[in-house]
Amino acid sequence: MSGGVQTELRPGCTSDSSTFAPAGRLRLGVLVSARGSNLQAILDASAAGQIPADVVAVACNHPHVMAIERGRRAGVPTEVFPHEAYGKRAVRDAAIVDFLQKHQVDLVVLAGYDRFLAPIFLETYQNKMIAIHPSLLPAFAGTLHAQADALEHGTKVSGCTVFFVNDVPDGGPIILQRAVVVEEDDTVESLSDRILLDEHRILTEAIGLIATGRVKIDGRRCRILAPK
Ligand code: GRF
Repeated sequence: MSGGVQTELRPGCTSDSSTFAPAGRLRLGVLVSARGSNLQAILDASAAGQIPADVVAVACNHPHVMAIERGRRAGVPTEVFPHEAYGKRAVRDAAIVDFLQKHQVDLVVLAGYDRFLAPIFLETYQNKMIAIHPSLLPAFAGTLHAQADALEHGTKVSGCTVFFVNDVPDGGPIILQRAVVVEEDDTVESLSDRILLDEHRILTEAIGLIATGRVKIDGRRCRILAPK
């Protein structure tokens, strides 16, 4: 499960055709929940000049997790929004959106975020919010243990997906996918580790494509445009 907005909004609200690229470097707001290795991959790709994008805000919904350290170590404004402090998801998410807006975020990246989002996210960042999920969507959508589910189901190929978030959990238009072959002796850990390497690659690649105006949403499909 990565994002998805549990919502009273009308369904299918990312169906408008769109591309966007900011005039300068893309300003990223990254939402994290735990380890933050995907966040680190984005920070590293940005620092290495591989993507014309900068992480300008990190929001975490759990205290005392590694992801917070990664954001702070990189010198990025990083705030924790624990559910207990807000009571209601709508209130907490409104505070996160405020924080992202204060830092003029262009694109929200759900990089291992373990909660559904309140409608305010889609109202504010429609077509400007992406997520990573550790399966080949639409297989094993809407779960926090997609790798274990893939193994248990006996799939021979799994993988990962980067997609635009809409109001269907893990159901928005797919930007990039990468397949990972399931080996005979795979455990949940070994399969997750291999998938994670590809998560880092396709998440940063997708951000680079968006930052350079090369992703166009066309109904359910994302068209990857040729370089300009
Ligand atoms: C990743 O596998 C992500 O796809 C899933 O949770 C994991 C987060 O890893 N939703 P990390 O926090 O980025 O290291």
